[in-house]
Amino acid sequence: MNVGVPREGAPGETRVALVPDVVKRLVATGLEVRVAPGAGERALIPDAAYADAGAQLTDEVWGADVVLKVAPPTSDEIARIGDGSVLVGFLNPLGAPQNARALAEAGVTAFAVEAIPRISRAQAMDALSSQSNVAGYKSVILAAEHLTRFFPMLMTAAGTIPPAKVLVLGAGVAGLQALATAKRLGAKTTGYDVRPEVAEQVRSLGAAFLDLGITAAGEGGYARELTAEERERQQQALTDAITDFDVVITTALVPGRPAPKLVTEEAVRGMASGSVIVDLAGETGGNCELTEPGETVVRHEVTICSPLNLPASMPQHASMLYARNLQAFLELVVGEDGALRLDFDDEIIAGACVARDGEIVHPGVKKALEAA
Ligand code: NAI
Repeated sequence: MNVGVPREGAPGETRVALVPDVVKRLVATGLEVRVAPGAGERALIPDAAYADAGAQLTDEVWGADVVLKVAPPTSDEIARIGDGSVLVGFLNPLGAPQNARALAEAGVTAFAVEAIPRISRAQAMDALSSQSNVAGYKSVILAAEHLTRFFPMLMTAAGTIPPAKVLVLGAGVAGLQALATAKRLGAKTTGYDVRPEVAEQVRSLGAAFLDLGITAAGEGGYARELTAEERERQQQALTDAITDFDVVITTALVPGRPAPKLVTEEAVRGMASGSVIVDLAGETGGNCELTEPGETVVRHEVTICSPLNLPASMPQHASMLYARNLQAFLELVVGEDGALRLDFDDEIIAGACVARDGEIVHPGVKKALEAA
């Protein structure tokens, strides 16, 4: 069996699906690994490192038995994937369900890493978590860069500076990493979420938990969308709370839905001049009313950054973690004899599959296509 690693074609995508260390391990298990020349260039991995790890440098990657991608394939890329090939990567199945349809029509068996169930057995292959960790960390570094004040408390001969107050809205993987990183920089941290079980995790990171009395636990460990009444109550309570913070980092997402609007214009107006908002939900519209996805803007003397694809700003570690996620997934689908074994009775394999045998097989994607 062979696996192919193309050079990512999406604008701004710097990551690569496999790194040499993982190539070496896959080759040792008997897999043939093909890597497109230049695939690792933007992650600062030279072709020679892949060759040394045992990969073949070739442009013949799209016809491999298994194609490993980072970003969702473009339509040109889908046309190049061989009929009967397997594709594994971020496919944005709920946000762009037409991708899944195109893959099904092309005869590709497609696995979306976003759809891998969040169960203990799948932790090593949880690419959403590994990349959210990178985004959460980097969001704080960005906030510190834009903030016109210190993060840590400083007691100096010239006077004492109080620590920055950082509020993180949405305490999933990215939010918890943001809280931990802000704490390491010396900030006074507070976390907020609508899933009540998160309070303990927030506190375990030395942060306070902001309890607004609104709970909205959904399916599979995710949050559900709030009702209009809950949303209004939440926005009002957050508007009151936010004035107190120097930095607000927002990470709130609901799968397959636009990002909830948590920070209103009124809330931004209430923040002190020079404060910073980093909105990690820009790809689905943003958590702040004034967010311009992909841009950094100043509104009411508050800097609002909405970086897209933050993991791509740290391609070395982001690629390394992602490659290990893919290695764990491959270990599940490749038998001891080195052949592909797709056991669709396995909840991870079935859960991650969006298209096979020319059909869309993921219920969420089917629903998204019907709604489109
Ligand atoms: P996510 O990226 O989908 O959302 C980020 C956070 O935003 C979530 O904590 C969510 O509750 C929150 N949120 C959504 N709407 C909100 C609103 N209106 N107001 C405030 N907060 C709101 O979440 P992520 O990081 O993907 O985590 C999803 C779940 O997966 C969590 O339960 C997490 O613990 C679980 N998980 C399980 C793993 C495992 O067992 N293998 C590994 C990683 C995550």
